[in-house]
Amino acid sequence: MELRFDMDYEDAYREVYEMVKPRYKLFTAGPVACFPEVLAIMSTQMFSHRSAEAKALHTDTLTRLGRFLEAGRGEIILFPSSGTGFMEAAVRNTVPRGEKVLVTVIGAFGKRFADVVEANGRRAVILEKEPGQAIKPEELDDTLKKNPDVHAVTITYNETSTGVLNPLPELAKVVKEHDKLLFVDAVSAMGGADIRFDEWDIDLVFASSQKAFGVPPGLAMAAVSGRVFEIAGKMPERGWYFDLPLYRKFNEKKKGTPSTPPLPQIMGLNVVLRIIEKMGGKKKWLDMYRKRSETIRNGVKEMGLGILAEPGYESPTITAVVVPEGMRGIDVYNAMRERGFELAKGYGSVAEKTFRIGNMGYMTFEDIEEMLSNLREVVEKLKG
Ligand SMILES: Cc1ncc(COP(=O)(O)O)c(C=O)c1O
Repeated sequence: MELRFDMDYEDAYREVYEMVKPRYKLFTAGPVACFPEVLAIMSTQMFSHRSAEAKALHTDTLTRLGRFLEAGRGEIILFPSSGTGFMEAAVRNTVPRGEKVLVTVIGAFGKRFADVVEANGRRAVILEKEPGQAIKPEELDDTLKKNPDVHAVTITYNETSTGVLNPLPELAKVVKEHDKLLFVDAVSAMGGADIRFDEWDIDLVFASSQKAFGVPPGLAMAAVSGRVFEIAGKMPERGWYFDLPLYRKFNEKKKGTPSTPPLPQIMGLNVVLRIIEKMGGKKKWLDMYRKRSETIRNGVKEMGLGILAEPGYESPTITAVVVPEGMRGIDVYNAMRERGFELAKGYGSVAEKTFRIGNMGYMTFEDIEEMLSNLREVVEKLKG
């Protein structure tokens, strides 16, 4: 859409732009940099969310996302919220008040899931690991044997605070052997790590638009199993805003969502899903993510810095870097900002001794090399 700078109100745009204009190359934990094509489609004029155009967009987006998640048996649901909305939905729709959920915690976002469980009047049984470690199948099996009364298990697929990727296929197998519901927080995994909804027998896997798909924040998406809908249909007081059966009804009958959705974000997501296909499909796209994160890990190791994630469980979307004794993560973060690179601060219990480098969204390998060469100089300087 063209801006008309001949109008009296032209300064309104310029004033806000001055506040927010891009100053940094982003290696953040999210929101991340977006493909220019995504930003372009999002600036088109609005239309009714009950129009034929909106219905076509909605249906096409569900089909493309379902294909990406290999969720032939799952219902794709779009929420007008951030990803956390699906934590609330998973719990309220399937677990009776006062009943238990096994929450696996390997960092700050596992803790968030436990908070959501408790805040909704359900009880969280916690299996927690030290920062940098992943949950192992035998530990999960053992905990489920000791807690046969839990209704569901939550797994953070990719823990953004520690840069650890949990072994989801193996963990999913254990959850299913115990015949429990499986909820997967894939907020910083979806679009960056493989998800095979049908094959891994997941019940609900969710993410946010502002991470590995590289879309602005405001939209959450999930694939949801038939089992969840069966249970939810009988669940009293499951709320309205995140009522999963209501969303399924609107998918079918209205080709839309119960309340007004963030149409620009849905358009942006649709463009990204097409970009993925045009770039050669899911495997090629995920290979790109793997290569980005490997380049970053190899680069920081060469500088003598540590990786928080235990070997074999490193995230393909974000790296938590451990700084040497006497250095603070925040100092590296600040020095890189001065050079025009926005990394991510350390988070949660490891905030002080780490900083993080995200590789989600729109970036090139030249951007990564440029960031690493600046980081090398910053680290040398801070080492003194
Ligand atoms: C793993 C993980 N889970 C949950 C969240 C919360 O997502 P949102 O802010 O979209 O609600 C985040 C956000 O960074 C995350 O990284």
